[in-house]
Amino acid sequence: MVRVAVIGAGTMGHSLAQVFAQGGYSVVLHDLSREILLRAQKLMEANLETLAEAGLFDPTQKEEVLQRRIRLTTDLPEAVSDADLVLEAVFEDPQVKKELFSRLDELCNPHAVLASNTSYLNVFEIVKVRNPERLLITHWFAPPHIIPLVEIVPGPKTSAQTVETVRGILTQLGKEPLVLKRFMPGFVANRLQMAVTLEMYHLLDQGVVSPEELDRAVKTSFGLRIPILGLAKRVDFAGLDMAQRALRNRSYRPPPVRGRSDVVDALVSQGRLGVKSGKGFYDYGGRSTEEILRERDLKLLKLMKFLKELGEL
Ligand SMILES: NC(=O)c1ccc[n+]([C@@H]2O[C@H](COP(=O)([O-])OP(=O)(O)OC[C@H]3O[C@@H](n4cnc5c(N)ncnc54)[C@H](O)[C@@H]3O)[C@@H](O)[C@H]2O)c1
Repeated sequence: MVRVAVIGAGTMGHSLAQVFAQGGYSVVLHDLSREILLRAQKLMEANLETLAEAGLFDPTQKEEVLQRRIRLTTDLPEAVSDADLVLEAVFEDPQVKKELFSRLDELCNPHAVLASNTSYLNVFEIVKVRNPERLLITHWFAPPHIIPLVEIVPGPKTSAQTVETVRGILTQLGKEPLVLKRFMPGFVANRLQMAVTLEMYHLLDQGVVSPEELDRAVKTSFGLRIPILGLAKRVDFAGLDMAQRALRNRSYRPPPVRGRSDVVDALVSQGRLGVKSGKGFYDYGGRSTEEILRERDLKLLKLMKFLKELGEL
């Protein structure tokens, strides 16, 4: 498998194209407009500079990766007609995915593997393709050029060979593939993150703590243990008999599912959308989004390096 097509050049797509190009693949990146593709190219360039600053990319290879290995096109047939692996990273909208996969089915080689980056959608029910044994979900995490985990979700008809081929490619790219037994909306990591995030909204809406205090509580307690113990091993350390008693404790009630948060609604109504608008729960002091992301990415890369040295990653 050498020819890769990435459909959608947004938050995820540009970085997916970059990961494959860095791994030596010939990649075609497709989106609906030239402007989006040029913005994606700028983002990839900035990502490579950050990786170079962290000592993880040879900057003399920048032109090879960006100019020679990645081709940008707004023409879908041109993007996918000779692709061996097609990664779909378009909007999380069932209709958009359905229409795109129906076109991919017409345009792609029958041997091409079709991988959706959906976060929650059961694409196996939504999309119709001639070769469902070659359809699967590969769920990456932002930013894909840094975060190792890729959840691989086979559908009811996905062949074992397709799963193994994709797992092999991801491993060779230095990623951490995790094959799930079956589809479950949100898969593993997002479900866990969502459970904690719903509790976070509840605590903030109830006025129990401020966002800064809440983050301090996370970072100085269970957040610190997670990189070393994960969640299940943490329970082993606490003792499963203790866990059994804690499960019986009925004074803890999970937050009610309301489909909204007062604190989030108030911030959004003030135009405080987070990093992209300079303010959210926090005020980012007028720094550019690029600068804030670069700082986060460099810290993540340092942390990952350290965790690798400890044998935890
Ligand atoms: N953002 C994340 O953190 C994240 C993480 C994991 C998975 N995902 C999933 O990845 C997918 C993409 O998410 P994103 O955050 O990159 O979205 P995004 O909005 O940043 O980018 C989507 C891109 O797809 C393009 N697009 C839309 N319809 C298209 C079509 N028919 N043909 C070609 N291009 C089309 C858009 O122009 C846009 O550039 C979604 O399914 C999302 O759930 C996102």
